[in-house]
Amino acid sequence: MKRKLIEAAKRAQQNAYAPYSHFPVGAAIRTPGGKIYSGANVENGAFPLTRCAEQIAVGAMVTAGERAIAEVVVFTSSSPPAPPCGACRQVLAEFAAPETPILCVNDRGEERRYTLGELLPEAFSLSSATKT
Ligand code: THU
Repeated sequence: MKRKLIEAAKRAQQNAYAPYSHFPVGAAIRTPGGKIYSGANVENGAFPLTRCAEQIAVGAMVTAGERAIAEVVVFTSSSPPAPPCGACRQVLAEFAAPETPILCVNDRGEERRYTLGELLPEAFSLSSATKT
């Protein structure tokens, strides 16, 4: 399962649209039911409109009707493997528990394993939010 998730993130990275930063990222999410959703970063000439790979993957997951994240892989070409940016940590926290594993890997086979809680202690939570 880990291998499959890494492969999905790697394939997504290959489709990244990153002509400005030249920093392609792929992300893959596994749900508790074993489904996999992936995303690549999509940059824009109006730079702030760029979307991170993790956020695209979350969008794919939600669009498919899923609401829970069991594991995440982030695939980059940087060494050490890049962890998700701060904004993506908060986006993941909407659907993932603090103990959710976040595995960051690169194309040299290096790996860094975190939990979401390690990467984002004290996540913002709107306790009255309803998820529909
Ligand atoms: N990027 C991601 O896709 N995910 C992150 O967590 C960090 C940054 C993208 C955004 C931009 O296209 C490029 O990496 C450089 O910041």
